[in-house]
Amino acid sequence: MNRNARLLDSLSQQYFAEYPSAKKEFDRAEGSLISGGSHTLRLFGPAPFRIVGASGSRVRDADDHEILDFWQGHYANILGHNPPIVTRALVETLTGGYGLQTGITDSLQTDFAVLLLRQLGAERIRFTTSGALADMYSVMLARAFTGRQLILKVGGGWQGAHPLTLKGVSFRDGFDHPESEGLSPDEVSSVLLTRYNDPEDLRAQFQRYGDRLACFIVEPWMGMGGFMAASPEYLQTARELTHRYGAVLIFDEIISGFRFCAGGLQKLYGVQPDLSTYAKIIGGGMPLAAVAGREEIMRLCSPECERRVKFDGGTFSAHPAALLAGKTLVEYLVEKEEEIYPRLGALGEKMRKGVEQTFAREGIYVRCTGYGNEAVPDSSFGMIHFPHQEGTPLTCPDQVWDPAICDVDRREKVLKLALLLERVYVMHGLGALSTEHSEEDLEWLFAACVGAARLIKAGEQ
Ligand SMILES: Cc1ncc(COP(=O)(O)O)c(C=O)c1O
Repeated sequence: MNRNARLLDSLSQQYFAEYPSAKKEFDRAEGSLISGGSHTLRLFGPAPFRIVGASGSRVRDADDHEILDFWQGHYANILGHNPPIVTRALVETLTGGYGLQTGITDSLQTDFAVLLLRQLGAERIRFTTSGALADMYSVMLARAFTGRQLILKVGGGWQGAHPLTLKGVSFRDGFDHPESEGLSPDEVSSVLLTRYNDPEDLRAQFQRYGDRLACFIVEPWMGMGGFMAASPEYLQTARELTHRYGAVLIFDEIISGFRFCAGGLQKLYGVQPDLSTYAKIIGGGMPLAAVAGREEIMRLCSPECERRVKFDGGTFSAHPAALLAGKTLVEYLVEKEEEIYPRLGALGEKMRKGVEQTFAREGIYVRCTGYGNEAVPDSSFGMIHFPHQEGTPLTCPDQVWDPAICDVDRREKVLKLALLLERVYVMHGLGALSTEHSEEDLEWLFAACVGAARLIKAGEQ
C-alpha cells in the first residue's frame, strides 16, 4: 500500500467514527442511485456526508456538525449559502402567486438580459439552464458561423458534460484522450487540444489547423484545471489568432463571470471575445446559464435564419424563479461592486498566504494557486498543491494534474478527508470564498490546516 492509500485508510476509519450518518445514508442511496448520487464530484470516498441546512459560509450535516464550506455550490454562491436578499425575493414572489414554471414569456427575462448585456459589453444574449448547454450552443454557433468543424480547447479545461468538448479534461499520461464512452469518432477527432497559458503552442495549433478551426474555447480564469489566471499575452494572442484565421473566440466565463468584478473577466483583460458563456453566479443559486456575444453570430439561432442553430431552449429555459434569483443577485453585485470584490480579493490573498505559511510551519511544503496577475486583481479562489519539488511553476493544468509533478491524490483525497475531520469542506484542494466568509473563518481554516498537517504526518510514521 502506498503512503496516500495508507493515510486514506486510517482517515476513513476516523471519518466514519465521526460521521456515522454518512455511511448509513450512503448504503441506502446506493440501493437506488448509481454510486449513491447524481453528480460524481459530490460522491467522494469513503461516503459523502449529508447536509440538512446551509447558511452563509457554513453547512450543517445529519450528524449535527457545523462545517465551514469552500465549495459554495460549485462556486456559484458568491454571497454564501441562501443569501436572504435572494431568498426574500423568491418567497415574496412565490407567495404572491408567481415564480414556478409557466412556459410563457415574462418581462423579467428582458430586464435581466438588458442588465447583463450592459455589464458584459455584449450585443445579444440567450438564456439556457446549464453551463454545459451554454458551452455546447456556443460551439454550435461557432460552427454554423464559420462553416468549419474543428474545435480548439485547452487540455485540462472543463466545458461541461455535453458531447462536443468531452475530450482532454482529466490527466492520464497527458490530456489527449476522450473523456467518455458514447462519443462518435467524429466528436472525438474534431476536438484539438492546446496548453493553457502557452502562446507558442497556440500559434503552432493555429498555423497547423487555423483555417479549419470553428473556434477556440478558453477560460480566462482556469477553473477546475487549477485556478490560474490567463496571462494577458495569452488572451491577446488568442484574440489576434482567431481574428487572423477567422475562428470564433469563445470565453467560457462560467466560473469567472461576476466572480472578479460585476461582469466578465474580459472587461479586466480588455479582450473582447466573440461569444462568452455564463452560468453559476448569474443564477443566484438557481439553474440558469447564458450565451452572450456578437449579434451577427447570436442571430444564427433565430427562427428567421433558414439554416439555423437549434438553440431553442427547453421546458425550463428562462425559468421565472431562476431569472428572479439571478437578477436580484446580479443587481446587488453591480450596486456593491466597489465593496465586494476588493474585500474578496484581499481575503483570498490572506487565505492562500496563510495556508502556505501554516503548512510550512508544520513542515509540509504546499503551494496555492489562485493568485492574480497584471490584469486580474486578487481572486477569491485557492487550491492547495503538494508539488514534489519546491519552486515548480504552476501556471497550467499540465503541472497541477500530473502526479509526477504534484501529489494529486494527496490534494484530492487525503487533504479533503483530513480537513473534514476538522469540519472544513473543500473541493480540489480548497475552493472559493463568499462574501459571508470572515476573518474568523480563515482562522478556522488555518487551525484546520494545522490539524490536517499533523494527521498527515502522524499517518506517515
Ligand atoms: C468552466 C466551466 N464551464 C462549464 C461548466 C459546466 O457548467 P454546468 O455544470 O452548469 O453544466 C463548468 C462547471 O463546473 C465550468 O466550471
